[in-house]
Amino acid sequence: MTNEHDKLRIAIIVGSTRPGRRGADVAAWVADAARRRTDATYDVVDLADHPLPHLDEAMPPILGSYTEPHTRAWAATIAEYDGFIVVTPEYNHSIPGVLKNAIDFLFAERNHKAAGVVAYGAENGARAAEHLRQIFGELKVPVVRQYVGLSLYLDFEDFERLAPRPELSGSLETLFDEVTLWGEALRRVRVGRLAAA
Ligand SMILES: Cc1cc2nc3c(=O)[nH]c(=O)nc-3n(C[C@H](O)[C@H](O)[C@H](O)COP(=O)(O)O)c2cc1C
Repeated sequence: MTNEHDKLRIAIIVGSTRPGRRGADVAAWVADAARRRTDATYDVVDLADHPLPHLDEAMPPILGSYTEPHTRAWAATIAEYDGFIVVTPEYNHSIPGVLKNAIDFLFAERNHKAAGVVAYGAENGARAAEHLRQIFGELKVPVVRQYVGLSLYLDFEDFERLAPRPELSGSLETLFDEVTLWGEALRRVRVGRLAAA
C-alpha cells in the first residue's frame, strides 16, 4: 500500500483484449489527460499484458489463499494501487468476460479503494458502467458518480478513429477529481485500519 504522504497511485485498466479493439485508443486518451495532472500518478494496466486463465483457484478469493503464480502476480499488481479508472466497452449489456474474470480473481487487493468508469459502446457503454458499479460494490470498491461514456456514433469517426466530443474532456477531469478525492479518503481509512490492527 502507498504511504499516506506519497502521491496516490491510480491504475487505468484496459478492460478489453480482442484484436482490433477500440479500448487501447480510449485508454490512451484517458492516459494522455492523466499525464497533465499532478494529483496522482497514473499507470496503464492493460489486461492484454496480464493474461489470466479462467479462474482456476480452488479457494474463494475472499480467503486470500492464492496458489497459482499468475494469481499472485496479478494480486501484486493490483495491490500497488489506491484506485482504478476502468476503461470498458459494453459487451451484451455488461462488461467483457475477460474483465469480469480478472476482477473475480481477487478480493482484498481492491477493498476500500475508489474507482471511476470510462465506458464506450453504441449506447455510451452506460449499461456496462452501471453493471461494473454493481460488481465493484461486492468488492468494497465505491464507484464515483461521474462516468465518461463514449458513443460509437458520436465519438469515433467512421466508427473507427477515436474523436471524443470536446465536452467529454471536462467530464474526464471531473472523474479524475472524484477518484482522487475518494482515493485519498479511502487511503486514510486503510492506514487507520492497519494502525488499529
Ligand atoms: C461481443 C460483443 C458484444 C457487444 N455488445 C454490445 C452491447 O450490448 N451494447 C453496445 O452498445 N455495444 C455492444 N458491442 C459493441 C462494442 O461496445 C464495441 O464494438 C466496442 O468497440 C468493443 O470494445 P473493444 O473494441 O475494446 O473490444 C458489442 C461488441 C462485442 C464484440
